[in-house]
Amino acid sequence: MSKKNTMTSPQTQLMDKLVSLCKRRGFIFQSSEIYGGINACWDYGPLGVELKNNIKQAWWKAMVYERDDIEGLDSAILMHPKVWEASGHVENFTDPLVDCKSCKLRFRADQIPEENLKLKKCPECGGELTEPRRFNLMFKTFMGPVEDEAHVVYLRPETAQGIYVNFENVYVSMRRKIPFGIAQIGKAFRNEITPGNFIFRTREFEQMEMQYFVRSGTDMEWFEKWREERFKWYLRIGIKPEKLRFHRHGPDELAHYASAAYDIQFEFPFGWQELEGIHNRTDYDLSRHQQYSGNDLSYYDDEIGQKYIPYIIETSAGCDRTLLAVLVNAYDEEDTGKEIRTVLRLHPFIAPIKAAVLPLVNRENMPEIAYEIYKSLKPHFKVFYDDSGSIGRRYRRQDEIGTPFCFTVDSQTLQDGTVTVRDRDTMRQERIHKSEALDFLKEKITF
Ligand code: GAP
Repeated sequence: MSKKNTMTSPQTQLMDKLVSLCKRRGFIFQSSEIYGGINACWDYGPLGVELKNNIKQAWWKAMVYERDDIEGLDSAILMHPKVWEASGHVENFTDPLVDCKSCKLRFRADQIPEENLKLKKCPECGGELTEPRRFNLMFKTFMGPVEDEAHVVYLRPETAQGIYVNFENVYVSMRRKIPFGIAQIGKAFRNEITPGNFIFRTREFEQMEMQYFVRSGTDMEWFEKWREERFKWYLRIGIKPEKLRFHRHGPDELAHYASAAYDIQFEFPFGWQELEGIHNRTDYDLSRHQQYSGNDLSYYDDEIGQKYIPYIIETSAGCDRTLLAVLVNAYDEEDTGKEIRTVLRLHPFIAPIKAAVLPLVNRENMPEIAYEIYKSLKPHFKVFYDDSGSIGRRYRRQDEIGTPFCFTVDSQTLQDGTVTVRDRDTMRQERIHKSEALDFLKEKITF
C-alpha cells in the first residue's frame, strides 16, 4: 500500500467508523497501546477473538470436516533455516526499497510513480531518493544463546512450508493417496515496508492455507476447481457477491513458485484488494525440499504404477483480511425514522455473540427468569446477559456488535412462559416459549 491515501471521503469515514467501533466495543486494539503502540501490530479483544475464531472455524469446517480428502496440521513457527533457502524466500522474498534523504520517509520502489523513481525524487517532499535496494521481508532471530550467523532462524513468512516438509509424514501416517490436501491455520510474520489500512497489511498476521497434492497433468483442473470452491466460501460466510471478484495474475505478477495464480479480491473502502491467493505451485516446492534436504519426496502412484513429485495447488487466505472484509461487508447505518441505528449484519455463525438475554425491567422476577435462560444457553453458545439501561439502548448495543437475536423476558413471560425473540436485521419480534430458546438458536446458528 502506498503512503498516498487514495480513499474518497465517505470511504475514509467508513474506515474511521469501523476502527472506532472496533476499539469502543472490544473487537480490536492497537498492540502495546499504553506504550504508544507498535506499528502494524493489533490485538483482538473479547469480541474480536470470538469473531476471528468463528471465521477460522468456518474455514476449518469447509476445508477439513466437510471433505474427506483433507487433513489438518499445526506445524511450528520456527523451522530449520534451510527450509527458507529451499523455498526461495532467502533469495526472493524481497521488496525494492528507497529512502528519501530529506524527509527520511521510506517507500516500496514498485509503489511510487515511475517518474519519481527515474528522477530519484521523493513523492512526498521532492527530496532526493536513494538507489533502490532489496529488502528481505523475513524477521530474523537467533536460536540458543549465541547471536551469530550460524544460529539465525526466521519467523515463518507463510504457513505453507510447514505443510510441505510434513507431506510425507502426513500421507504415510494417514495412509493417504493423491489427490489429497493438508490444511493449516497459523501465524505468519513479514517485515512489511508499507503496512497499513488497519488490519489489512500488518507485520504479524494469521493465514488459513491449504496445499492440495495432485498428479501433474491434472493440476490445472484442480486449480480451476479450487478457485471456484474458495470463491463460494466467501459467499457462504455472507460476503455480498458484488463485493468479490477474481484477479488473474499476469506473467510479471506471478510469485517465483507459481505457474498460474488468481487472487480473490474484495472491495475494501480503500479499493479492490487481495483476500486470498490461489496458486498452481507446480512441483517447485517438493522438488526444492527434496534437493535441499537430500530426502526422497517422490510419491509412488499405484494407480498408474509411477513415481513422481506431486504438483501442488495452494489456497492461501488471510484471516485478518477476511475479518476486515467481513466487518466492512456487515457495517450498516439504518434510518429507523427515529434515529440512525448502527448494525453489523454478520452471518449468525460468524457473529461473536449469538444471542442476548434481557429482562424488560429489573423487577417482578424478570431478571431471575432471564438469567435462567441465559444459563441454559451458555454451555452451547456464546450468549450475553444484560439488565442495564433502557431496552432500546440494550437492543442498539447488540445491533452494533452484530448479535443476531435478543430474547426478552417481559410481563407476558410471567403468565405463559413465552419470551420475545427480536431479529437484528428486521427488528421484528416473535414469541416462543422460553424452553424453545436453545432449539431456536440451534436451528438458526448453522453454517
Ligand atoms: N503461501 C502463499 C502466500 O503466503 P501471499 O499472497 O503472500 O501467499 C496469502 O499471502 C494471504 O495472506 C494474502 O492473500 C493475505 O490475505 C494474507 N497476507 C499476506 N501478507 C499479509 C500481511 N502483511 N498482513 C495481513 N495479511 C497478509
